[in-house]
Amino acid sequence: DFSWKLPDHPKLPKGKTIAVIVLDGWGEASPDQYNCIHVADTPTMDSLKNGAPEKWRLVRAHGTAVGLPTEDDMGNSEVGHNALGAGRIFAQGAKLVDSALASGKIFEGEGFNYIKESFEQGTLHLIGLLSDGGVHSRLDQVQLLLKGASERGAKRIRLHILTDGRDVLDGSSIGFVETLENDLSELRNKGIDAQIASGGGRMYVTMDRYENDWGVVKRGWDAQVLGEAPYKFRNAVEAVKELRKEPKANDQYLPPFVIVDESGKSVGPIVDGDAVVTFNFRADRMTMLAKALEYEDFDNFDRVRVPKIKYAGMLQYDGELKLPTRYLVSPPEIERTSGEYLVHNGVRTFACSETVKFGHVTFFWNGNRSGCFNPSMEEYVEVPSDSGITFNVQPKMKALEIAEKARDAILSGKFDQVRVNLPNGDMVGHTGDIEATVVACKAADEAVKTILDAIEKVGGIYVVTADHGNAEDMVKRNKSGAPQLDKSGNIQILTSHTLQPVPIAIGGPGLAPGVRFRTDVPSGGLANVAATVMNLHGFEAPSDYETTLIEVVN
Ligand code: 3PG
Ligand code: CO
Repeated sequence: DFSWKLPDHPKLPKGKTIAVIVLDGWGEASPDQYNCIHVADTPTMDSLKNGAPEKWRLVRAHGTAVGLPTEDDMGNSEVGHNALGAGRIFAQGAKLVDSALASGKIFEGEGFNYIKESFEQGTLHLIGLLSDGGVHSRLDQVQLLLKGASERGAKRIRLHILTDGRDVLDGSSIGFVETLENDLSELRNKGIDAQIASGGGRMYVTMDRYENDWGVVKRGWDAQVLGEAPYKFRNAVEAVKELRKEPKANDQYLPPFVIVDESGKSVGPIVDGDAVVTFNFRADRMTMLAKALEYEDFDNFDRVRVPKIKYAGMLQYDGELKLPTRYLVSPPEIERTSGEYLVHNGVRTFACSETVKFGHVTFFWNGNRSGCFNPSMEEYVEVPSDSGITFNVQPKMKALEIAEKARDAILSGKFDQVRVNLPNGDMVGHTGDIEATVVACKAADEAVKTILDAIEKVGGIYVVTADHGNAEDMVKRNKSGAPQLDKSGNIQILTSHTLQPVPIAIGGPGLAPGVRFRTDVPSGGLANVAATVMNLHGFEAPSDYETTLIEVVN
């Protein structure tokens, strides 16, 4: 007797326009020169923080609060938006893969059995992000996968690596490649022909998202499948070291390279009869390659040669599209998200961001589901991102355009919820450019103001929060919190997310008197936000949702 109908909230009215603003990569940290949010001029966010204390608080955005394996795992946009939208904490990809590897079940499932059929005659190719960032993939999982596959009959293995420097320190790629090379040489000692075959930086090769720039995926395809790249090396450690010597080179943007044998031939193109595993567990940056590997009809770039392969993803990346068809580990089943409930209860929704974060407030928000639940009640608007640039060059990104779309949606009276993601703090923070990140934070703050002004005009409510930290701390710190210096005495820039909590603020003329944050959910996290927003729309949340952060006192 399941019902989508939500009970009325006993005290809160329906029909208010609510702006839900997610500042991407906007955590709370102590003020110093590496806290770009502190350094930046951010009057709007400051006024929320310094306003009524019962309308601003911090929530947890990392580790187990968002379904990650440990408290050492920084937050990220996938798990953050999943929690915000779903109102519950689901064991996420990283954790599901860990368990499947620990129990050995990964090697007994349908996906593995499928690729295993190629082990006798073909090569097993593993493609993915090589780091211990834990956001898209993890090196220790790749090591276990290699070990397990080789013990189960894979005789020829090729790795196609993507260097990170975004979820981990820039320059750390060399160490990860060395670790992998050690493992591969041990496999070779056991008679297995195992080698790195190609590589490139994650932001320049393969890992684009939301179809922002297919050229990125094509560069990867050429190296991985066709065995063609502008740079050829005999070994991958040397490749990474040499390519990093170019002026301005960094791990994120290394050009594509292939490894060649003594005769100059690439050692591992993907050919008919091979097996391929994309070992990232996170979807957004693997979906495009998965389409190129799996779809017969495909016109996003010229694939030149389409090998007949057995392909499996580490996870299934898109449940609606069933992409890819085969996978090693089942993804979290995130159902009954707040978006789906609200649409069933008459809440008309507008969601918007620019391309690089568009799927965050739609696909991730809705539990890794593409598209609307009910197109007659929802409108999702994507503002095209600049492509082919690093965002420190355009730190304002499309914040203003997103804010204007949100403002117009609010003023139109056609929507009850207007939801946006403002990418600046995160996307510019990932470049490690501190000055640009300060500009980014100011731009995001101005965008918030535009949206809050519109809420003021229509007598609505706002909920301003973030998905995880990034811009509030741009330096690697030692245990005591002081900046950590490298061997040459330079500070190490932190391009990654952080373990910091994020703010949440509520307000606006439509907020009923007496609404305030409860004080009895001190360890509240992002998953508590969905019930909170449902309350503000005038509904009680489903009983299995994480509890609301607000109460109404009269
Ligand atoms: C990326 O994919 O850009 C980073 O690895 C994570 O950033 P996001 O979780 O903020 O998207
Ligand atoms: Co990020």
